[in-house]
Amino acid sequence: MKKKITKILSKNFSNRITCLTAYSPAVAKILDGNVDLVLIGDSLGTTLYGMKNSRKVTLEMMKLHGLAVTKNVKKSITVIDMPYNTYNTKLQAHKNALELIKYTKSKMLKLEINKKNLILIKYLSSKKINVIAHIGVTPQSFINFNKIRAVGKNKTESKNLIELAKKSENYGAKAILLECVKKDTAKKITSSVSIPTIGIGSSKYCDGQVLVFDDLISYDKSQHFPKFVKNYINFNKIAEKAVKTFCKEVQKSKFPNKKYTY
Ligand code: KIV
Repeated sequence: MKKKITKILSKNFSNRITCLTAYSPAVAKILDGNVDLVLIGDSLGTTLYGMKNSRKVTLEMMKLHGLAVTKNVKKSITVIDMPYNTYNTKLQAHKNALELIKYTKSKMLKLEINKKNLILIKYLSSKKINVIAHIGVTPQSFINFNKIRAVGKNKTESKNLIELAKKSENYGAKAILLECVKKDTAKKITSSVSIPTIGIGSSKYCDGQVLVFDDLISYDKSQHFPKFVKNYINFNKIAEKAVKTFCKEVQKSKFPNKKYTY
């Protein structure tokens, strides 16, 4: 697996890196072997639990969903998010990182990185933990997701992000996830670092792309999807149709018929 991580996360890897989220065994099985990275993201807080932001996601939740996913991933590389408030200091980060890795056997950890906590990458990497640095828009910094806007718009923001990306690489990050970073800045970051960049809402100028699986299939019809989300299928519509047919058949005593009866 170590060789595989190195291969996939090498800039020489001929394919663009693909990554989708999974929180459950069923989705893990769909993704395994089809995407390079399976991310157990703390987006599960909003996507699965209906929370307003990701701040109430706990280590325990990540452990349970993490294990449910990793048990069903044999070919792809698993990445798990460190949730909010679990990596405020080096020692806290190390203790919780080990707990998460030991319980879930996830191969990589993703941390939301800023100027202040950047040093955690160096510390965790020195302990042989594979870290992905999540920069740009870092959702754990937001109580209200409606306030999220793309970053890297002006010279200062762009310079700071490039600096953060370069330092993340120097401190040992294996990849950089760029969230909602303007195209020109994303392009500059990708060409400034020798580790891969994986974008979400950060243009095609990244070495790979990540999306939330539930968004890809349009699971929740009430959800407002940001500009960067492409709904590849409308699962919601398909599921609703199935539900309506089931109800009709039950009401008309068509289900269960002989075929479904012991
Ligand atoms: O938590 C998550 O799913 C993420 C993706 C949106 C990149 O961090």
